[in-house]
Amino acid sequence: MKILLLGPPGGGKGTQAKLLINKYKIPQISTGDILRKHVDNKTNLGQKANAYMQNGELVPDNLILNMIKKRLSENDSKGGYILDGFPRTIPQAEGLDNILNELNQTLDIVILLDVKDSDIIERMSGRRMHLKSGRVYHIKFNPPKIKDIDDITNEKLVIRKDDHPETVKKRLKIYHKTTKPLINYYNSRNIVSSINGNNDINKVHQNLIDLIKNV
Ligand code: AP5
Repeated sequence: MKILLLGPPGGGKGTQAKLLINKYKIPQISTGDILRKHVDNKTNLGQKANAYMQNGELVPDNLILNMIKKRLSENDSKGGYILDGFPRTIPQAEGLDNILNELNQTLDIVILLDVKDSDIIERMSGRRMHLKSGRVYHIKFNPPKIKDIDDITNEKLVIRKDDHPETVKKRLKIYHKTTKPLINYYNSRNIVSSINGNNDINKVHQNLIDLIKNV
């Protein structure tokens, strides 16, 4: 199963992807998580991407496409995956089509997690993250068992540098202008379904499973 999760920043893509990988035993491929690891490890790519990410801007398409091509060629991607946060621009979607053609693969479903802008700001301001695993929490909606501590590793949770309200507003603006046109791009193939992402985490998860079951 090859699933693409589309939606605004803070819309719950990462949260839902983590729940789905446990159920379907396929990897989550999050360009945001991969980039954050590069930044953390101060790799060449991380150094190039860091300023864009901190400013809430998109990292250039060519860097993202090179990164994703490598990731989709890895062995664990052969049986399916969940794309989270990629593609985000029309050139990225076209690049993905080329990569999938080379790999003789097609996307099975594109799921739009639709969330109101007004809810996003509250979600981002309460988000806490375990950087190494990409696990996300929320101080109110999905709190860790111990305040600011990851449930699995007992390591400290962090606040993402791009979760500042002004940066979030900028990311939302970019989403509406640059990423939303992907809905039409994939609509022409009849593979887009939309889910109300304003519901609570469990309800959204259940609705996702119901959708995926029918593919
Ligand atoms: P990335 O990490 O992909 O960020 P994003 O797409 O902006 O999405 P987020 O990770 O912020 O949110 P999410 O939808 O995963 O929500 P989450 O589950 O965490 O990208 C970061 C940066 O990297 C970009 O700005 C860009 O610079 C760069 N980048 C990445 N990919 C790129 C690409 N393809 N091209 C170019 N640049 C790229 O949930 C958010 C919060 O809400 C959490 O606290 C969670 O607990 C809570 N929550 C989740 N669901 C619910 C719910 N139903 N009800 C209440 N609370 C909820």
